[in-house]
Amino acid sequence: MFEIADKRIWVCGHNGMVGRAVIRALHEYNCDILTVERQELDLTRQQNVEDWMEKAKPDAVIICAAKVGGVLANDTFPADFIYQNMSIETNIIHASYLCNVTKLIFLGSSCIYPKLADQPIKEEALLSGDLEQTNQWYAIAKIAGIKLCQAYRKQHGCDFISVMPTNLYGPHDNFDLDTSHVIPALIRKAHEAKSNEASTMTIWGSGKPFREFMHVDDCASGILFLLEHYSDYLHVNLGTGKDITIYDLALNIKQAVGFHGDIVCDLSKPDGTFRKCLDVSLLNNLGWQSKINFKDGLRETVNWFNKYMAEQS
Ligand SMILES: NC(=O)c1ccc[n+]([C@@H]2O[C@H](COP(=O)([O-])OP(=O)(O)OC[C@H]3O[C@@H](n4cnc5c(N)ncnc54)[C@H](OP(=O)(O)O)[C@@H]3O)[C@@H](O)[C@H]2O)c1
Repeated sequence: MFEIADKRIWVCGHNGMVGRAVIRALHEYNCDILTVERQELDLTRQQNVEDWMEKAKPDAVIICAAKVGGVLANDTFPADFIYQNMSIETNIIHASYLCNVTKLIFLGSSCIYPKLADQPIKEEALLSGDLEQTNQWYAIAKIAGIKLCQAYRKQHGCDFISVMPTNLYGPHDNFDLDTSHVIPALIRKAHEAKSNEASTMTIWGSGKPFREFMHVDDCASGILFLLEHYSDYLHVNLGTGKDITIYDLALNIKQAVGFHGDIVCDLSKPDGTFRKCLDVSLLNNLGWQSKINFKDGLRETVNWFNKYMAEQS
């Protein structure tokens, strides 16, 4: 058991979607939140990370920093994805050991699991089959992060844990159509279709595959719960355990944005894996459950996006 109150907590990657949500959640605790801008500390530089941590002396570290991107970015920049992610996590985890950090939490992603893993995906499915080829670089780096936490626990007794969040959405997501994930991409498409008074909006593929989505504030709540209450080798899945078809997702988004046209499925585009949903029974049995209802989370995200777009114009 680790208590956040009165501790110095370093949130790495505090300007990212997850980092910001973790900081919002930490404001509920009486703790010192440590952050450092990327211009001041590039996390891929080992000596700089060690020097900064030596001075900052955090009690706990939450690793939200990573090079993150969609399938196209992974496929185009494989060296960046594997090199930067492995450097960031190795530098922070090793420096945390050197600086006697009491608790560390490393964030992976559900893409660490084999492409054909049984559904819903249990933690034990890790390394039981071949990875999806397109994002294997990112997945291998994230798997190395899990193994680093386990190795430092085994050899040095460090209380370093790993958590694997499902697909996330919420404020400060990436809404760039070229690099975004499915929810921000569909919000943007619905917004543009509405603004242009179009009669249709197009989604990729048949709309039939199922995906799981979690609001980033729910994710932050789960991260802080595990920081305080979990201490073991096995990485923990963090999700809602519920999934929805891409077509129903598009319908929900269309409604939340207020676009009244039709949805058209572009069957020339691939569907990808049919179902991808995490088994969250380990997390639920530890005493934490997702709380943010999908429709409410989506409405709030669309409101955030509308405000963001209004500020840009
Ligand atoms: N988003 C999702 O759907 C999702 C799902 C599952 C798991 N996750 C995991 O959650 C974590 C955070 O994701 P996110 O969506 O919040 O990503 P994000 O919005 O891209 O944030 C990543 C943060 O890392 C920082 N960063 C990257 N390289 C750095 C470097 N060399 N030095 C210093 N800072 C650096 C970025 O800084 P700048 O702001 O300066 O670029 C950014 O603030 C990742 O580990 C990801 O795998 C995310």
